[in-house]
Amino acid sequence: MSTTSAYEHFSRLNLVPAEESYFTDWSASESEEIHLDDAFIARQADYLALPQAMLTACQKTAQNISADVQRIMAHSIYRMKQRELDNYLFPTSPKEDNDLDPLLNVILYMQLVEHLRAQHEKMGITEDITRDTLSDLFIWIDDYYQKEGVYGFAQAGWLKNHFCAKLFRIGRLQFEKSKVWDFIRVYKHKSEPNVLIATTEDQQFCTDGLYATANSNGIHRSSQTTWVEEGDVITATCFDPSTGLAEEAPRAFSLDEYELVVQQNDPVLSVHIAASGPMKRDDCLESMARAFPFYEKHVPEFKPKALWCSSWLLNAHFREYLKPDANIVQFMELWNKFPRTKSNGHAFFDRVWGREDVDIETAEQKSSLQKAIIQHLKNGGRWNDMGGIILPEHIPALQSS
Ligand SMILES: CC(C)(COP(=O)(O)OP(=O)(O)OC[C@H]1O[C@@H](n2cnc3c(N)ncnc32)[C@H](O)[C@@H]1OP(=O)(O)O)[C@@H](O)C(=O)NCCC(=O)NCCS
Repeated sequence: MSTTSAYEHFSRLNLVPAEESYFTDWSASESEEIHLDDAFIARQADYLALPQAMLTACQKTAQNISADVQRIMAHSIYRMKQRELDNYLFPTSPKEDNDLDPLLNVILYMQLVEHLRAQHEKMGITEDITRDTLSDLFIWIDDYYQKEGVYGFAQAGWLKNHFCAKLFRIGRLQFEKSKVWDFIRVYKHKSEPNVLIATTEDQQFCTDGLYATANSNGIHRSSQTTWVEEGDVITATCFDPSTGLAEEAPRAFSLDEYELVVQQNDPVLSVHIAASGPMKRDDCLESMARAFPFYEKHVPEFKPKALWCSSWLLNAHFREYLKPDANIVQFMELWNKFPRTKSNGHAFFDRVWGREDVDIETAEQKSSLQKAIIQHLKNGGRWNDMGGIILPEHIPALQSS
C-alpha cells in the first residue's frame, strides 16, 4: 500500500491524524512486529508494576485489536523508534467517534518497553531510572480509573516524551528536554545570588501583574512593557521573582552588574511533578541536584541552562492560604517566578477535584488546598499557572546534608 492509499484507508476508518505526511515510510513499518499474547502483556505489566486488575484489563484489550489497528500500531512503533517527535500526532487515539479501546495506547507502549530499555542501557542509564520513568504509565492509568471508573489511558501524547527518551524521572521529579517558551530574559547578578527576570518588548499586562492574554476577564489592562537599552544600562519591565507578577515601574540595571544568562528559546530542563505521593522539599532538592550531572553524563549533546517549570504549583497566592511548611509552598518558594502567557487556570481544578467544571459554592473542601483555592476565588482573585526558573548554581543545598 502506498503512503497516499494508506492515508485514505485509515482516514476512512477515522484512525489517523489529519496529515498524510504521517504515513511517510509506510512500507518500512510493515515488518514491525506486534505482540498481543497474554504472556507478553504479563511480562510488560510486571516490568511496569501494573497491578493484576490492570493486567487483566490490558490482556482483554490486546485480544480484541483488529488487523487494521495492529497495522497502524506498527507504523506508530516504527516512528517512535525513529524518535520522530516533532509535529507527531498519535494515530490511534481513542475518540468518541472511533470506538477504540481506552487501553489501546498502553498496549502500544508495551511494544516499546524493550526498545526503550535497550536505548537507556546504551545511554548508560541505570534500570532504576528506566523503571521510575515508566512508572508514569501506572499513574495515568490510575488517574483515568479514578475519573472514569474503568481502566483507560488518555496521556499517549505525554508519554511519548518518556518513550522517546526525552524525559526522565530522577528521584521525586521528572526532567524533560525543553526550551524557554516565554518572553523573558533572565539576568544573574555577577557577585550576588540574585536573579532578575525582565520581560521583552511589546508585552501587555493587566493591573494585577499577569499577562493580558491570560484569563483576564473583567480585569483592566495596563500599559505596554518598557524595554530601553542605553549603553550598558537597560530599563525594563521586570517580574518580582517572589510573586512572579509584572512590576508596575520599570527597573534600571547595568550590564556591569548583571549578565544575561537565559532567554527565550534557550535549552532548559523542564521540571514536572508526578502525582505519586507528597513532594517533600528535600526530595525535590535531591532530584534537582542530580538532574544536571545526569544530563551531562547521559545526554551530553543537550546543554540546559536552567531548570524551568510551568505549573499551578508555582502560584505565590498559596503563601496567603497554606501553611509555610506545606510542601506546595516550600516548592513554590524555590523558584524565581514569572507569569505564563496563556494560562487558563484549569489545572487548579483538574489536579485537585479531578475535573475542570467545579462549582465553587458546592465543591468539596476537605483539604487546606481545596479551601485555599475556593477562598481565593471568593475573595475576587484568579488562579493562573506560573513559570519558574532556577539556575544550576542556585539550586539550594539539601537541608539534611
Ligand atoms: C503536587 C502534590 C504532590 C502536592 O501534594 P503534597 O506534597 O501532599 O502537598 P502539601 O503537603 O503542600 O499539601 C497541603 C494540603 O493540600 C492537600 N493536597 C495536596 N495536593 C492535593 C490535591 N491534589 N488535591 C487535594 N488536596 C491536596 C494536602 O492533603 C494538604 O492538606 P491538609 O493541609 O488539609 O492536610 C499533589 O498535589 C499532587 O500529586 N498533584 C498532582 C500532580 C501535579 O499537579 N503535578 C504538577 C503538574 S503541573
